[in-house]
Amino acid sequence: MQLPQRFSALPEYAFPRLRALLAPVPAGGEVLHMSIGEPKHRFPDFAMQALVEHAAGFNKYPPNEGAAELRAAIARWLERRYALSAVEEADILPLNGTREGLFNACLALCPEQKNGKQPLVLIPNPFYQCYMVAARAAGAKAVFVNAEAGNGFLPDFAALGAAVLDQTAVVYMCSPSNPQGATASAQYWRELLALAEKHDFKIFADECYSEIYRAAPPVGVLGVAQQVGADPERVLAFHSLSKRSNLPGFRSGFVKTGPKNIREMRQLRNYTGAPIPLPIQMASAKVWADEAHVIENRALYSAKFDLADKIFAGVPGYASPSAGFFLWLKVPDGEQTALEIWQKSGIRVLPGAYLSQGGADVNPGRAYIRIAMVAEIDEIERGLLAIKSAISPPRGI
Ligand SMILES: Cc1ncc(COP(=O)(O)O)c(C=O)c1O
Repeated sequence: MQLPQRFSALPEYAFPRLRALLAPVPAGGEVLHMSIGEPKHRFPDFAMQALVEHAAGFNKYPPNEGAAELRAAIARWLERRYALSAVEEADILPLNGTREGLFNACLALCPEQKNGKQPLVLIPNPFYQCYMVAARAAGAKAVFVNAEAGNGFLPDFAALGAAVLDQTAVVYMCSPSNPQGATASAQYWRELLALAEKHDFKIFADECYSEIYRAAPPVGVLGVAQQVGADPERVLAFHSLSKRSNLPGFRSGFVKTGPKNIREMRQLRNYTGAPIPLPIQMASAKVWADEAHVIENRALYSAKFDLADKIFAGVPGYASPSAGFFLWLKVPDGEQTALEIWQKSGIRVLPGAYLSQGGADVNPGRAYIRIAMVAEIDEIERGLLAIKSAISPPRGI
């Protein structure tokens, strides 16, 4: 029997592609991974204590709708973080990290047709690759909308025109964005909310980097939605403990949206979901309730970005991101540069083209590399100095 083509025709995933690119060439120094965005700072010790305290819960099938304690902790966090008034705990669905929710929300909420046509899912380009596969799994067509330096790395969805927007069912929007670290302003969210209302689509706001910022906390879609009185069913905000609390292995996140969306997502998960184990839900409740470790974590990243600002001062193509934990560095050719950096120094960085689509246009990630600032600061220093020297033209030229 033939295998389905739906997923076999996907482009090679970024990290096997990087391995294939670098494999033929020996590392030019001690290997340092600056390609994968896996948080490395310590997670709070109390999370493990809570896990042990609630270990008896491993004996139970976890509740799909989420433990009441967890939903309450998340609701209070949202109220504090975004000055929201009285968040309904029933409008929160705990997820196994944002990735699972970003995928399953599209399956649960993207209709079979939009205005009699195959629905479109709009995706910023470059983008977190899960969005594209979610669109495909839901039977929708992915449309990639470039997020480039010229538009502050924020996709201009309105420029697509009424015909495209009327066919659109879902818009993925990542703020702070991976890879560029751009943040949507209140004005940006307001315009996107108005567009969603006018053309009847849903906004999937991936805000999993919301707590990793330099100066000002990024504006969240939920705060703006409250201010403008938007329909709660228009917006889904996704958050996670992976980056905020250095707990990617917890697989613990949530979505906040309106009750109808929650019902549909819960329905799908009733049949197919694997809810977060109960002890992890209970420990997650404690982690959402604490801000001290988040402040410490943010300070560690800020020190690394201050260091990057010093090291790359005056380097053409360098721009300090306002949030997130990546540098998105402009270079002549991302693949070539990643290879040269590896060959000269043993540092692994990701070619930007592996995170974006080309299609009819030039791939907007082609002339970039993504550098993950997740290692300890002394390693980051070694890595950034090596990258700088690898990309700088030799003296005398
Ligand atoms: C933009 C973006 N969204 C979502 C995720 C998924 O994170 P998690 O499932 O750990 O919450 C990541 C992880 O790297 C990401 O970079």
